[in-house]
Amino acid sequence: MALIDWKSEYPLGVALLDEQHARLADRVNHVAEAIARGETATKIAALLADLIEDTEQHFQLEEQLMYQHFYVSRLPHKETHLSLLLQVKKLRDDFAAAQPYAALETQALLRRWFLDHLFYADRALAAHLRGRGVR
Ligand SMILES: [Fe+2]
Ligand SMILES: [Fe+2]
Repeated sequence: MALIDWKSEYPLGVALLDEQHARLADRVNHVAEAIARGETATKIAALLADLIEDTEQHFQLEEQLMYQHFYVSRLPHKETHLSLLLQVKKLRDDFAAAQPYAALETQALLRRWFLDHLFYADRALAAHLRGRGVR
């Protein structure tokens, strides 16, 4: 079973964000599957690098929308992005240095990382954007 079951999680009702979140969920699942298959730490670091690249683009888009639509909580939301990126970059660096976490610990970290992002900060942002007519 996938680490993030996208169908059962709730889309936020803003198409562009939902599309990107689905893609990020895929990326997270690819990492989890690679760990389950027993891939090398180098391979997992590369998959984490892909996740980081998409995440950076996604965060940029959200931050643009927050400014464009006068979102009051944009600063704390931006800080959340920064701290999430740091966490996943540390994970990538640890794998790249062949100091991987235990499989379960990595999965728990990735799942929490993704879901925290989606269900707290992003849910509030999406509600604001929908209120301003963004779909
Ligand atoms: Fe997001
Ligand atoms: Fe966000």
